[in-house]
Amino acid sequence: MLNVPSQSFPGPSSQQRVASGGRSKVPLKQGRSLMDWIRLTKSGKDLTGLKGRLIEVTEEELKKHNKKDDCWICIRGFVYNVSPYMEYHPGGEDELMRAAGSDGTDLFDQVHRWVNYESMLKECLVGRMAMKPALPKDYHEEKKVLNGMLPQSQVTDTLAKEGPSSPSYDWFQTDSLVTIVIYTKQKDINLDSVIVDHRDDSFRAETVIKDYSYLVHVALSHEIQEDFSVLVVENVGKIEIVLKKKENTSWKCLGHPQENHNSFIPKKDTGLFYRKCQLVSKEDVTHDTKLFCLMLPPSTHLEVPVGQHVYLRLPITGTEIVKPYTPVCDSLFSEFKEPVLPNNIYIYFLIKIYPAGFFTPELDQLQIGDYVSVSNPEGNFIISQLQELEDLFLLAAGTGFTPMVKVLNYALTNIPSLRKVKLMFFNKTEDDIIWRSQLEKLAFKDKRGKDFRNSAVPGPPDLRLNLSSQHLLLNGVANRDTFHQLCSLNF
Ligand SMILES: Cc1cc2nc3c(=O)[nH]c(=O)nc-3n(C[C@H](O)[C@H](O)[C@H](O)COP(=O)(O)OP(=O)(O)OC[C@H]3O[C@@H](n4cnc5c(N)ncnc54)[C@H](O)[C@@H]3O)c2cc1C
Ligand code: HEM
Repeated sequence: MLNVPSQSFPGPSSQQRVASGGRSKVPLKQGRSLMDWIRLTKSGKDLTGLKGRLIEVTEEELKKHNKKDDCWICIRGFVYNVSPYMEYHPGGEDELMRAAGSDGTDLFDQVHRWVNYESMLKECLVGRMAMKPALPKDYHEEKKVLNGMLPQSQVTDTLAKEGPSSPSYDWFQTDSLVTIVIYTKQKDINLDSVIVDHRDDSFRAETVIKDYSYLVHVALSHEIQEDFSVLVVENVGKIEIVLKKKENTSWKCLGHPQENHNSFIPKKDTGLFYRKCQLVSKEDVTHDTKLFCLMLPPSTHLEVPVGQHVYLRLPITGTEIVKPYTPVCDSLFSEFKEPVLPNNIYIYFLIKIYPAGFFTPELDQLQIGDYVSVSNPEGNFIISQLQELEDLFLLAAGTGFTPMVKVLNYALTNIPSLRKVKLMFFNKTEDDIIWRSQLEKLAFKDKRGKDFRNSAVPGPPDLRLNLSSQHLLLNGVANRDTFHQLCSLNF
């Protein structure tokens, strides 16, 4: 019997995990696609019923608007009249009604934190809640000028008790350099734990520690050069970001605090941060899937951890649309690299283009040199759990193969104990198999991968595999029955 580990893939609250009853998108009526919705929002129709007026909404008022034809929902302190959107909601009317007349922020975040509701519902904005959500304690009391280490980061009361201990930061300078040091107080920190963006004078370093995010966010007091370096001293959990001064003058202070500076809050409560990346190449992989290569700005340090995804964002007829994608390597044969300086600047994606889809045809229309926004990584898969692995068994279907690429790459180059890797790859037809010849070559070249299997038939494949699997990674297998049949077979 296959032994499915408790920490299976994707993680319990991952976007990659299908809902308990299978995927819950509903068929929408004719004329109710996202494009139809965007058209309606641009039509000039009064979608709130308030003739463009914005109001302050009390809790009592919000509660009254709880019917399908009069439905208000509050998300992050803003109230929207979602009645006009009901028939356009891909998750269905009943799902939307679960938040009717109430604060739907948690519900919304549980299902699709990444959906860009602000842009999609801007014509449905009724106003703000009369009671604003509480700001972190002492927010307004923080020093306006930063000059050295602050005594204690802004940790909201409820979190401080359960989460990891709060990091802190400091800075020092030489004639030509400014070094910002983040003391994470954690040992399992590496280069993908910190994401740095420098844009105009705004400097932002987000450090991810377990499920929490620590932010250093300042408007720098002086100009710096475009490139910088990031160093991690793993055994003491110290991160050093070395900035190059534009002029060799002495800085009196680091800069001025920006939004959420020096805060340490659960990652789920932070917004998604995006930077614009340039499309540098696009090549066909199968009849409908392409390999996109995006280049990060030189003033960004971002490594997407193995098994995690990012969100791509594009303006489509004036509305910002967001979809999740999992970065891959440029090929199955690229050596797994521990990130080296300078920053890895390319991110690759294998993306299936759906002719009738909303986002992918727009992505496909991009020309080399065009820009697309890329978010910070998300996901809770931790690659270190595979460290002692002997046998690795991967199941994937269609583009659900994408997370397996880096897992495979990592496993084959970084796990000394690994003896055997098996990949079951479900596809509709043989033509749909992504990187088929690479997989075959890899299986031939690397004896540990001799059982890569490409199944082009739906349903349970030939399972005459001689496998004592300890780890099962599952992605993209949409049919739960198939999954259960697989689990009950003797491997
Ligand atoms: C965590 C995560 C990682 C992902 N990684 C990748 C990746 O690496 N590569 C990749 O290619 N994809 C990936 N995806 C899928 C990706 O996010 C998009 O869902 C996909 O690209 C489709 O986008 P689209 O807007 O073009 O198509 P959509 O507009 O979503 O349409 C897709 C298809 O469904 C049909 N459809 C849409 N709505 C309905 C409806 N209500 N009823 C019936 N049919 C409908 C459309 O006609 C079309 O054929 C990932 C998804 C997740 C959750
Ligand atoms: C707050 C209550 C809400 C609930 C419970 C809810 C629930 C859902 C569910 C279950 C899905 C299907 C998810 C899937 O199968 O992948 C979905 C999809 C979607 N919802 Fe909501 N939703 C809510 C609010 C909203 C709001 C306010 C918007 C506003 C824009 C919205 C926009 C979308 C979009 C765009 C999708 C499709 C996502 C995709 O492309 O995969 N939802 N929703």
